[in-house]
Parts: sequence; C-alpha cells; structure tokens
Amino acid sequence: LDAEAIERGKAASTTCIACHQADGSGMNIPGGESWPRLAGLDRDYLVAQLKAFKDGSRNNASMLAFATMLNDEQMVDVASYYASLPVPKIEAPEVDEDLLKHGEKLATQGDWSRYIVACASCHGPGSQGNGSTFPALAGQHPGYIAQQITAWKEETRQNDPQNLMASIAKRMDDRDVEAVSAWLAAQ
Ligand code: HEM
Ligand code: HEM
Repeated sequence: LDAEAIERGKAASTTCIACHQADGSGMNIPGGESWPRLAGLDRDYLVAQLKAFKDGSRNNASMLAFATMLNDEQMVDVASYYASLPVPKIEAPEVDEDLLKHGEKLATQGDWSRYIVACASCHGPGSQGNGSTFPALAGQHPGYIAQQITAWKEETRQNDPQNLMASIAKRMDDRDVEAVSAWLAAQ
C-alpha cells in the first residue's frame, strides 16, 4: 500500500464516515440496510466494488451516489486507506448453539447434499479473505452478509464475473443464511 495514496484516501473518506464510520467498522442495522466493515479488506477488492457500483453491475442506491463521485485514482486512494486500517471487532448477534453449529458447518464444510460449497474453500482459512478476489467474511456484520446473499438471489448484485456467489446463494434457505451470517460475524 502506498503511503501517499493512504493519506489522500483518508482525506476523501470524510464523505464515507457517516455510514462506514471513522474506523471503517460500518454498522449492523437489523431490519434495515447494514453498512459493511471496510477496514482491513483487500484494496483491489474494494476498488472492484466501487467500479461495480458506478457501472450498475452492483445495484445499490446508497453507494451509486458515492461511487459516482470518485474517479479511478480516487477509488484507489480510498480503497488504500480502508485496506490500511486495523480490523475492528464487531458485535456479533446472540443466537442459539444449534444455529451457530449449522453456520459453522456451512462455512467450514458446506453441505454437499445440496451442493453448497464451504465458504472457506474460496474465502480462505477461517474465511479471513483470499487475495483480491475473495473478501474476508470473518468479522463482517451479519446483516450485511445476509443482505448480499439476498442481492445475489434477487440478481441486484451481478458483478461477480464467474457468478460463483449467485449459484451458492440460490441454494441457501433462510435458516442457512441466518446461521452462516451469525457464525461468520462471531469469528
Ligand atoms: C458498501 C465504499 C460512502 C452505504 C460499500 C462498499 C464499498 C464502499 C467499497 C462495498 C464493500 C464490500 O463489498 O465489502 C464507500 C466509500 C464511500 C462510501 C469509499 C465514500 C466515498 C457510503 C455512505 C453510505 C454508504 C455515505 C450511506 C449513505 C453503503 C451501503 C453498502 C456499502 C449500504 C452496502 C451496499 C449493498 O448492500 O450492496 N461502500 N462507501 N456508503 N456502502 Fe459505502
Ligand atoms: C463474495 C458469502 C462461499 C466466491 C461474498 C460476499 C459474501 C459471501 C457475504 C460479499 C462480501 C462483501 O461484500 O464484502 C459467502 C458464504 C459462503 C460463500 C456465506 C458459503 C456458504 C463462496 C464460495 C466461493 C465464493 C465457495 C467460490 C466458489 C465469492 C466471490 C466473491 C464473494 C468471488 C466476490 C464477488 C464480487 O467480486 O463481487 N461471499 N460466500 N464464495 N464470494 Fe462468497
């Protein structure tokens, strides 16, 4: 990460903190639209998402406005800034043990009887992220994780070139989504 880009990105991020917070921790908003944690995510993954909001392949009204304000260089700057921040600990929801166990199984082993591939096989050991293609899921807000799975089901997020997430999302039922989101958030 380039130190000057981080400094420029920090200055540009003043328009982002209303939602993503000054430490990049975002916020879980039960029953509403959650704001993802950006701190510590991969720079190039973040740039790809900003471009996707701008070109509409990832359809989100809140982010369309903010991504449109940024040119390519500014995207690299803010992404460098968020990537440079330490990962804050987020608050995981209290859910029952059975649900957590189910979530852990989906994340670490998947469910081959339903062709649900283990999250960790792409998102990396502990689902801590894997390069610029597979974002960290561990310590991400549960409301945001669930929101993205819904977005793939409803095809409002279509920027994943290989459509890897859409096929997995469409095989998950409501209990799967609640379970895997709660378990990942707690990691
Ligand atoms: C998602 C960056 C401002 C609300 C995201 C993502 C990025 C991002 C990179 C995708 C994260 C991921 O895929 O893990 C920024 C930057 C901002 C900014 C650089 C300032 C220039 C805001 C503001 C709001 C907001 C001000 C609230 C009004 C959201 C929401 C999502 C999101 C709701 C999730 C969208 C979805 O469900 O697909 N943002 N953001 N952002 N941001 Fe921002
Ligand atoms: C992105 C969840 C399994 C490939 C994501 C995101 C979530 C998610 C919530 C968005 C994160 C963010 O916006 O910051 C899950 C869960 C899984 C799972 C719960 C297990 C049930 C997999 C597997 C693959 C995969 C097995 C590979 C075959 C990807 C890719 C992206 C992604 C490529 C980034 C898409 C993009 O660039 O827009 N996943 N995932 N995921 N996932 Fe998964």
